[in-house]
Amino acid sequence: MTASGASIIISSIGTYTPERCVTNAQLPAHLETTDEWISSRTGIHQRYIAPDGQEASDMAVLAARSALQKAHLQPADIDLLVVATMSPDYPFPSTACLVQGKLGMRTVAAFDVHAACSGFIYALEVASRMMQSGAYRNALVIGAEKMSSVLDWEDRGTCVLFGDGAGAAVLSKSSTLGVGVIDCLLCSDGMRPELLYCPAGGSVQRADAEAIAQRANFLKMNGKEIFKVAVRLMADSAEQILARNGLTFADVDCVIPHQANVRIIDSLAKQAGIPREKFFVNIDRYANTSGASIPLALNEALEQGRIKSGNNILLVAFGGGLTWATSLVKWL
Ligand code: UT7
Repeated sequence: MTASGASIIISSIGTYTPERCVTNAQLPAHLETTDEWISSRTGIHQRYIAPDGQEASDMAVLAARSALQKAHLQPADIDLLVVATMSPDYPFPSTACLVQGKLGMRTVAAFDVHAACSGFIYALEVASRMMQSGAYRNALVIGAEKMSSVLDWEDRGTCVLFGDGAGAAVLSKSSTLGVGVIDCLLCSDGMRPELLYCPAGGSVQRADAEAIAQRANFLKMNGKEIFKVAVRLMADSAEQILARNGLTFADVDCVIPHQANVRIIDSLAKQAGIPREKFFVNIDRYANTSGASIPLALNEALEQGRIKSGNNILLVAFGGGLTWATSLVKWL
């Protein structure tokens, strides 16, 4: 609720994925991978890859335009813009500022949230809390990733797992009480940042010739270790957020999980005791799009009629940092 008593709702979602679709079979031969390995270990069958010249901000703009159109709003109606990305156009300035410029928006509050694959839920919490203050009318919360630009295309252990895309949500106020973004739980554990990180390009190591020769300017991931903790962390935080809102897993109508690995989603369903059919899964077509994964899945769940008015929706994600996050949304 806002200071004035209104709820903060997700009034529309828009998405964009690049034109080029790359199936597992179309991945470069030098990777020495197979469709069988990728699909059985992850559930991924294909991913979309953006061309040179189409950056995270460009995909964010296209997703935002679609969301604005669905909400019957103009860029001028937005006064808060938050972008979640771990593959920004530049280390600085923020991708949100680039999106603000490309959309031709007014000089509004625009900034990035950096929480890797949990970024969209982090951004949702930040934007909805700012709106609750009463100082903003409508917000755009965008997850946008050009993961292909940070991947090491020589490393089959990571490059087959990710894809590019963007999803944007318009947040607005509603006078209906007790709907929209009910609660978010954001968590982090920075004791082992190297589980998912990019060694070079920050202050520790410049992205110079030596770093490039070491391929240190690309994403590194210890997928096995992340897999071990991801399920427990997501299940615990989901249980916590439900408990503090007087709900149990039985009250959840639909779960929109971060799409990192279908086996992680299967294990989460089992651990939480939520029927697997309540989990929306589209990793087969998009792979792991990091900050864009939740809005890409939420949009498809809506389009397929999987979410109805009055439903309790659980958004749940985890990623580099480590970060993990859960949001409880009551659909209007
Ligand atoms: O988005 C948030 C953060 N990230 C994640 O959520 C990722 C979580 N982790 C995972 O999804 C899984 O751990 C992976 C999909 C990354 C890996 O699956 P795994 O079952 O844990 O496989 P593994 O890493 O243990 O590798 C098993 C074998 C290895 O061969 P050896 O050492 O057993 O001979 C790898 O070299 O599979 C090999 N391998 C591959 N083989 C064919 C690794 N990548 C590939 C590949 N194609 N692309």
